[in-house]
Amino acid sequence: MPFYHRVGDIPRVKHTTFYKDDGSSLYREELFSSKGFSGVYSNKYHIHLPTAVLSAKELEPRNGTEWPEASVLYFHFYTDDKRTAGDFIGSRNVFLQNAHCVIATANPAEDTHLFYRNAYAAEYVFVHRGSGVLLTDFGQLRFGPGDQLIIPRAVTYQLKFDSYHDNKLLIVESDTAYEIPTHFRNDYGQLLEHAPYCERDFRRPEFMNPNGDSGRFTIIVKAGHRLFEHIVPHHPFGVVGWDGYLYPFAFNIRDYHAKVGRIHLPPPVHLVFKTQHFIMCNFVPRLFDFHPDAIPAPYFHSNIDSDEVLYYVEGDFMSRKGVKEGSITLHPGGMPHGPQPGKTEESIGARRTEEYAIMIDTYAPLRPTTNVRDTMDKDYAQSWL
Ligand SMILES: [Fe+2]
Repeated sequence: MPFYHRVGDIPRVKHTTFYKDDGSSLYREELFSSKGFSGVYSNKYHIHLPTAVLSAKELEPRNGTEWPEASVLYFHFYTDDKRTAGDFIGSRNVFLQNAHCVIATANPAEDTHLFYRNAYAAEYVFVHRGSGVLLTDFGQLRFGPGDQLIIPRAVTYQLKFDSYHDNKLLIVESDTAYEIPTHFRNDYGQLLEHAPYCERDFRRPEFMNPNGDSGRFTIIVKAGHRLFEHIVPHHPFGVVGWDGYLYPFAFNIRDYHAKVGRIHLPPPVHLVFKTQHFIMCNFVPRLFDFHPDAIPAPYFHSNIDSDEVLYYVEGDFMSRKGVKEGSITLHPGGMPHGPQPGKTEESIGARRTEEYAIMIDTYAPLRPTTNVRDTMDKDYAQSWL
């Protein structure tokens, strides 16, 4: 996050004594930093030692679903057809993955006392349905439909929903950080006038009373495909204050300021976040191209070195037949893709679109899992005939 933020109590000078109310025992400072000491960082002040662990054990991997026979072909699948009971950790179902990126959905249907930490990946959590609060040791952040939560790697968190009736999340893990593209920022990090969002559009953690409780607290730690259970003796959210640039934040897809061109503009104008190995875009309601002979539907396209994934949120998606809310399409690199028969002609003269969708373009090929096999539209690959 390129903006400085400060929450709670911190000492005037970092790396100096910071005593608790008893005047003799110290708060414990933790530098939470990225890229060694060269990237963004924050300094947190803990009531207890952040390193205390009572025990650790490895858990069985959940929802492991490799599908090595999957074709390299066009896929369309319905993520809502695959629901696994459980909390915000256990209800996840992975659909696509490669060495840098894991794409899953979840329908959390129960609350949990567990904490969760992804030790190897940053997480993007899109809230399709549901509302609640993200709890971390950086504070609390309310979320609702359309929110995109960015949770940096190694942040311990919980998602508490207002109800467990009908929640739906899209979760994308990245082995490198989610970043605001540098061409949206000036030399000082401030967002430029032509960026598709401004500082006011980002929501940051708010103060939450630090929890100094001692006892036994369980953190599920994910490290690649391995899962561990760490039992710690102090509540993970026992932080009295912090400041810096590295923290979770929220940006709602409805706050994305779309750009419109005279003729069809390619997906980079819809860019929202980037990582080292893939980019993400927000497709939102917007006016269509204004050349008198413009074709708003995309042209056929061979993106020779990236896989293109679209998650359909709501509205009538202009270039695809048969997709519905919660659908994902995968158009792999090395093959052309484009609108289905009739969709190009249908788009001519259209003035605007009401679609919401999220695009993930990965530079390395994605591997579909058996969850794709079990939920796919089997006729999709032939839908251009
Ligand atoms: Fe494309």
